Amino acid sequence: MSGLSPRPGIMKIAPYVPGKDSIDGKPTIAKLSSNEGALGASPKVMAAYAKAAAELHRYPDGASERLRRAIGRHYGLDAARIVCGAGSDELLNLLVRAYCGPGDELLYSQFGFLMYPINALGVGATPVAAPENDYRADVDAMLARVTDKTRVICLANPNNPTGSYVTKDDVRRLQAGLPSNVLLVIDAAYAEYVSRNDYESGVELVDQAENVVMTRTFSKIYGMGGMRLGWMYGPAGVVDVISRLRQPFNVNLPAQIAGIAALEDIAHTDASRTNNDIWLPWLSAELGKLGLKPLPSVGNFLTVGFGSRERASAANDWLMNDGLIPRMIAGYGMPEHLRITIGTEAEVRESLAGFVAQSK
Ligand SMILES: Cc1ncc(COP(=O)(O)O)c(C=O)c1O
Repeated sequence: MSGLSPRPGIMKIAPYVPGKDSIDGKPTIAKLSSNEGALGASPKVMAAYAKAAAELHRYPDGASERLRRAIGRHYGLDAARIVCGAGSDELLNLLVRAYCGPGDELLYSQFGFLMYPINALGVGATPVAAPENDYRADVDAMLARVTDKTRVICLANPNNPTGSYVTKDDVRRLQAGLPSNVLLVIDAAYAEYVSRNDYESGVELVDQAENVVMTRTFSKIYGMGGMRLGWMYGPAGVVDVISRLRQPFNVNLPAQIAGIAALEDIAHTDASRTNNDIWLPWLSAELGKLGLKPLPSVGNFLTVGFGSRERASAANDWLMNDGLIPRMIAGYGMPEHLRITIGTEAEVRESLAGFVAQSK
């Protein structure tokens, strides 16, 4: 028998289960399980990626300099305060590794993104979940759970899998209530889809506070989940810490080149957003007519309530049988719900047809 033993906490991790990408013995009509951008990557991104093939023997620029400058130009940010990563997942993990350790607490909201408790357990810290109010993060409940052991708070805004968001006033109230030694990580993976006056992605707060970081991704509206590319914007001190901890070549060369091309193709990003602006409310309304309960969502997905675990599971089986792949979210403590991504018009219409067929 091996005498090896992993560091405490690791064996408490229930491994993250990604969305299914195929159905045994069936052609897939629509993969709606991972909130990938409906329109895929821009053709310009694909061309840039193909061109990068000639350079594969070269190490990438370790500091992702050109990409950071392109992100800075696009979003109006200081490139020196951006760090790029292999997906925002990598950066979320690095932030926890940097600021949390054994005995510390990481605070998140009840139905928050699953990687937060996983990252906490991975460093031997204790994940603490604050209860939500009607599937919405509750800032007062979060503040009430801050202790002298709290080191990091992770807030997905908008949140996956609920699709809800916290208003800018409430996020500011959360930050204002924190001691200066607690890092607030605002995970804004779906920010590009949100068009609400009372929402902000986190940029402004990062600029005003020393203990706030925002993470972003190319996996959603830019349709580049397979590329693994994300970035964070933070105060100089946090940027310095993460730059020391990250691997020297954490963002691969094709990802850097493709990321720049994605930012330049504004028409493609706009088309992705428009697709969502049309089909998210449409599907939500149609599901409501069937007596189902989609949670209000500002992301590129809908989480639908079925009233019981059995009905959600039966709906999942039924949709899968039709070649549609939704996401069961029992792992989030929501066994009575299914999450579906807003795909193309054809995919959205197919998914509605699946729901209609099973409601008969
Ligand atoms: C809220 C949230 N944050 C972060 C991520 C990770 O994204 P990525 O690592 O692809 O950038 C996801 C992916 O689904 C997400 O839903």
